[in-house]
Amino acid sequence: MNILLLGSGGREHALAWKINQSDKINKLYIAPGNAGTSEVGENININILDFEAIKTCVIEKNIDMLIVGPEQPLVDGIGDYFLEDSILQKIPVIGPVKAGAILEGSKDFAKDFMMKYNIPTAKYKSFTNSNLEEGKKFLESLSAPYVLKADGLAAGKGVLILDDLDEAKKALKEMLAGQFGDASATVVIEEFLDGIELSVFVITDGKSYKILPEAKDYKRIGEEDAGLNTGGMGAVSPVPFANKEFMQKVEEQIIKPTINGLISEKIKYKGFIFFGLIKVNEEPIVIEYNVRMGDPETEVVIPRIKSDIVDLFVHTAQETLEEATLEICNEYCTTVMLVSGGYPGSHEKGKKIEKIEEIKNSILFHAGTKQSGENVLTNGGRVIAVSSYGENMNDALEKSYKSAEQIEFTGKNYRKDIGFDLK
Ligand code: AMP
Ligand code: GLY
Repeated sequence: MNILLLGSGGREHALAWKINQSDKINKLYIAPGNAGTSEVGENININILDFEAIKTCVIEKNIDMLIVGPEQPLVDGIGDYFLEDSILQKIPVIGPVKAGAILEGSKDFAKDFMMKYNIPTAKYKSFTNSNLEEGKKFLESLSAPYVLKADGLAAGKGVLILDDLDEAKKALKEMLAGQFGDASATVVIEEFLDGIELSVFVITDGKSYKILPEAKDYKRIGEEDAGLNTGGMGAVSPVPFANKEFMQKVEEQIIKPTINGLISEKIKYKGFIFFGLIKVNEEPIVIEYNVRMGDPETEVVIPRIKSDIVDLFVHTAQETLEEATLEICNEYCTTVMLVSGGYPGSHEKGKKIEKIEEIKNSILFHAGTKQSGENVLTNGGRVIAVSSYGENMNDALEKSYKSAEQIEFTGKNYRKDIGFDLK
């Protein structure tokens, strides 16, 4: 098979690495990819939101399947674009159509969906400019901290958590006035949940599903979860508190009602669902849905999948996922993200990365890198995810940290305490 994978981050390198191990693969293309993906496939320089350019590429390269890494093309309707095109409609897309992608594209929709199908989530109300005053009153009825969420996609920045009521009212007004553009024309205000988060992933063909390994990611730049939010500074899998009993609750109370809800809504969903969960008093509660894999969770989830991932994709496309086997490796996997100095604030790019060829005990998934002649250069805030296996979490972390130390580039920064809250 010839496969085209969209995206350019660590998630896509991990997916490409795994796809490339399949016997079914003839040629793997990644658009636009990075220096890492070019080692396991061929990068193609196209804009992932330019559907016509994608169509041209699919035809020229004889692509048999499209895998969509990030959410934006899905929310923009790449799945529908393929289904509505007479040439493309026979080419399966792994990633939901727009009607499914809205689970991530609109928090208001996602909350309504959860209410309708009795899926545990924080209490909430949604507001627009026309009922701003009601929104302020609703804030008064809650106790701090206050959680305000832009309805639409806001590059991971659309959630504000504020301790002060007046600040929360001000933030609501600013969001509704367009702080995040159209994405915050509607704002969801919800109850604050106090607990520990984890990410649970399934792949579904719209009828049945397979639960992939769960993971926990570390979003803040600073140790012990201090400082600004980032795209993710590291991850571990499995998550020790997600034991059999807890995962059974996740499956019964969250996964099954979600899949059944999609079926009831007649949404043909083929792809990944990422449940952003929080454990409060032993109960799993949904914080958000994403319609793609997580990053950097993918860099620990994918290495733990033993089965052929292309086989899983083919079963997903053919709606025979029930027949597929999913074998998971028992070992732990951890990843530590090397980032550019200054990230998540302003940071420089183009720094030469050295010693990557010397790393033997970790798998390096490139997040923001670029090939320049013989050299690999930094090309973003998150640079390389250093993933390692271990018999237990500490073993895996020890390897990730040893490799993280060895790799060199000017301004290199990383968190030294990934997994700290699970030990
Ligand atoms: P999101 O963009 O929806 O992933 O939200 C970003 C982060 O905000 C989440 O990962 C949580 O840490 C936090 N968050 C979102 N909703 C809540 C909530 N209701 N209570 C507590 N924390 C939340
Ligand atoms: N790691 C969280 C996300 O991918 O949204």
